[in-house]
Amino acid sequence: MKSHGEHIHPVFDQLLSRTDKESLLHQKAKVIWLTGLSGSGKTTIAKGLEAKLHQKGFLVMVLDGDNVRAGINNNLGFSDEDRTENIRRIAEISKLFLNCGVIAVCSFVSPTHKIRSLAADIIGNDDFVEVYVNTPVEECERRDVKGLYAKAKKGEIKDFTGITAPFEAPKNPAFEVKTENKTIDESVNEVMNFIVPQIKMKR
Ligand code: ADX
Repeated sequence: MKSHGEHIHPVFDQLLSRTDKESLLHQKAKVIWLTGLSGSGKTTIAKGLEAKLHQKGFLVMVLDGDNVRAGINNNLGFSDEDRTENIRRIAEISKLFLNCGVIAVCSFVSPTHKIRSLAADIIGNDDFVEVYVNTPVEECERRDVKGLYAKAKKGEIKDFTGITAPFEAPKNPAFEVKTENKTIDESVNEVMNFIVPQIKMKR
């Protein structure tokens, strides 16, 4: 997509810094990036994380594939190009939250190394916390919460991740949660234990 940036003059010398906002909220902002197949449990874990972190006094914003695609990204489909633009916009939005001191939990299939490194580049490697929600495709198919795998198998959805479009598992995620044979609570707690030390402000 063409950039029209040449006559744009963003203001970078804001009076208040991210640190000021983080101090106000008493937390360290991060982008928790959940990647995994459709039906792997990303949204469920994101919601669980939001609730538990909120309870502990953290301010969290959840950005989720189905919601973002129903709104700001409702002009995008699932071609390579559209998925890239989907993730680019989400990464930019996450960065706004990050700079406001808010913990962003992003739940997107984000199926390729290229797409996730685009997000990491926009957000900044230090703030991009990649969490791989690792659920085998057979288990996602068994769950098939939205009935999409059945449709994809019948050829009713094209480019469906894990069936007719690739999913490249992260090679070196910051954290990996294997959801098969775990309760939702167990999966959420595993991620919580990993995240909390990183977002806690030292006194
Ligand atoms: S991404 O690939 O661009 O990161 P995103 O997370 O926004 O995907 O959206 C994925 C959600 O869209 C899935 O959970 C599923 O509900 C729905 N969906 C519809 N069509 C597809 C498709 N072809 N591939 C993957 N997900 C799809």
